[in-house]
Amino acid sequence: MSAPIVAANWKMHKTFSEGMALAAEIQAQLQHKKGATVVLIPGFLHLQALSEQLQGQHRIRLGAQNCHYEPEGAYTGEIAAPQLRALSVDYVLMGHSERRLHFQEDSKLLKAKVSSALEAGLRPIFCCGEPLQVREANQQVDYVSAQLSEGLSALEVPAFERLIIAYEPLWAIGTGQTATPAQAQAMHSALRGHLSRITPQAAATPILYGGSVKPQNAAELAACPDINGVLVGGASLQAAAFLEIVAAFD
Ligand code: PGA
Repeated sequence: MSAPIVAANWKMHKTFSEGMALAAEIQAQLQHKKGATVVLIPGFLHLQALSEQLQGQHRIRLGAQNCHYEPEGAYTGEIAAPQLRALSVDYVLMGHSERRLHFQEDSKLLKAKVSSALEAGLRPIFCCGEPLQVREANQQVDYVSAQLSEGLSALEVPAFERLIIAYEPLWAIGTGQTATPAQAQAMHSALRGHLSRITPQAAATPILYGGSVKPQNAAELAACPDINGVLVGGASLQAAAFLEIVAAFD
């Protein structure tokens, strides 16, 4: 298994200068340390300047929060995967629950986006997770397995080597209520089983946990055998908190 991944999803936060300052602080602290791969996922505004600022160092990579399913075209207001790749962006979030909820992204659309990202040379971070009522009915494994099957069914076997899954239970995102390490580990293990039934190559696909990850719970999540990293929202907006989470995975 490759190095753990600690990804920072800044969502629609930080002005240009605030974001550049945050990234510089993180970069300064990680410069001479080896460990987890850190993926900064700012808004589109920051990507070009950050790709220049991060040039020449390998520990911090760049990700985007979204991309279009076509490689180019008349789609006002959209950003295409090859445009991201040209800025040395390596990763792209796909199907974050906020995109599914507020922008009606469904499995059909996500399938097309994942293909477009892979074709451009990006690594998709495919997000999945169940709402509270599904968890309360104890249907979470079936629900999330179906999200993976539907969103990834078009993938060729080699694509699974480039894919990353982020399990983010909706009831834990931005709520301060994290899944317990036991709940997260159980789901990750079930998802790994599900993926390896799709293709044995997918047994090594990294599965990140997301949902109220904080310095206080990072170490116990890092200790779970099937948690290969984390996707951090709120706590990634402050360098000190984020660096503590990174340290838990180093
Ligand atoms: P949170 O967000 O860490 O603020 O819960 C995680 C995410 O939405 O990726």
